[in-house]
Amino acid sequence: MAVDAGIEQTIRINRAFAPNVPVQQMSQFAGRFKEIRRMISAVTQPGAHVILFGERGVGKTSLVSILGEIFEPFDNSFAFVRVNCDNKLSFSSLWQRVLIEIRVTQQSAGMGFGPDNDKETEITAFQLRRADEIDPDDIRQLFQSVPKHPVIILDEVDRIKDHGVVSSLADTIKALSDHAVETTLILVGVADSVDELIGEHRSIERTLVQIQLPRMSSPELLEALQQRLDGARMTMTDEAKNFVVLLSKGLPYYTHLLGQHAAHCANESGRTTIVLRDVEEAIQRAIEDVQLSIRSAYVRAINTSQHDTLHKAVLLACALIDANALNELGYFSATDVKNELSELQGKLFEVSNFSRHLTDFSSSKRGNILHRIGKERQYRYRFTNPLMQPYVLMKGIEMDVIDYDKLQRLQR
Ligand SMILES: Nc1ncnc2c1ncn2[C@@H]1O[C@H](COP(=O)(O)OP(=O)(O)O)[C@@H](O)[C@H]1O
Ligand SMILES: [Mg+2]
Repeated sequence: MAVDAGIEQTIRINRAFAPNVPVQQMSQFAGRFKEIRRMISAVTQPGAHVILFGERGVGKTSLVSILGEIFEPFDNSFAFVRVNCDNKLSFSSLWQRVLIEIRVTQQSAGMGFGPDNDKETEITAFQLRRADEIDPDDIRQLFQSVPKHPVIILDEVDRIKDHGVVSSLADTIKALSDHAVETTLILVGVADSVDELIGEHRSIERTLVQIQLPRMSSPELLEALQQRLDGARMTMTDEAKNFVVLLSKGLPYYTHLLGQHAAHCANESGRTTIVLRDVEEAIQRAIEDVQLSIRSAYVRAINTSQHDTLHKAVLLACALIDANALNELGYFSATDVKNELSELQGKLFEVSNFSRHLTDFSSSKRGNILHRIGKERQYRYRFTNPLMQPYVLMKGIEMDVIDYDKLQRLQR
């Protein structure tokens, strides 16, 4: 009996948390009111198109995935289609992916005479194209004849490397906008893609509403955690929740990952309440779950053959920097590192004590764990992969350099 109950609960936990999949339904979606409001406003604004951008893992795909459900009770004249881009797609094959997802009914004359003989057949918009090769003006013409208002979400546009495809996308936006076609494009990508996309195409800047998705705030992460706990029919002490949120650094993936493991730990001890100790245990397990590329990049970054042990501490200081201190693209300054490092080590550091370490982290020698921009003395850094930041914190806890109390104190 007890074993059966354990299994049932294990399944419930895995269903509730699911850290590896974007949110599919509103009931699992937390916060983001401001961004949702801006999105609704942009989608319903004639002639406007949208670019949604933000760091990897902040929840872009999740936000666009629930848009259809948000609109449904108010207005069902919109048809949402989401496709993923990749670097192998040509402009035509990208639109093929989109068009086969859109269904339209076509009137055709049946046998005999009179309106009673008219037949309605359902076809895909792909069948409406004029030629195999599709160009921006074909798209404009085609959408003018589609009855619903299509909202086309192109996810991961940053993966398109072909400048010709990017140019044609910009031309499509311009053509749709100039002809006031009732179709909205939503381009979704990591932050840098905005510049790449708009850089050479200033003409579309005016029609493109730019919506930035920042990292999630602590209240938003707490809400996300609570939803999943409710789904798993479990509770969590306040300090355990706080620990999970502090470690997540605004990235919901880690909230779900740590929540899931902590829930399993509690369940294995026959409890439905998750405590701090479960989160500590969860960190050990989550570290093994994090993708291999992150784990190996970390090893490369801190690997020291000399007597210099400061690398580990400097990297941890970078990871401790508060998500609010990061600029919108996730960048921090050497001064931010200095403050964290001084607090961490309990003595005053100057930037000159560790600027070499930051340079190392930004070079291929250390696997480019950090990405550096700007001019000397004004350098800005960020984790090349944002998902590295919580991982570095979890390693710091695993190695006993920090614990919950210290983390809480450092993060105030
Ligand atoms: N608003 C949200 N509420 C709850 N969980 C979220 C939210 N946004 C994202 N997540 C979770 O965060 C993780 C990453 O989200 P995803 O949408 O794939 O990010 P991105 O597309 O920006 O890389 C997923 O596990 C997803 O379930
Ligand atoms: Mg995504």
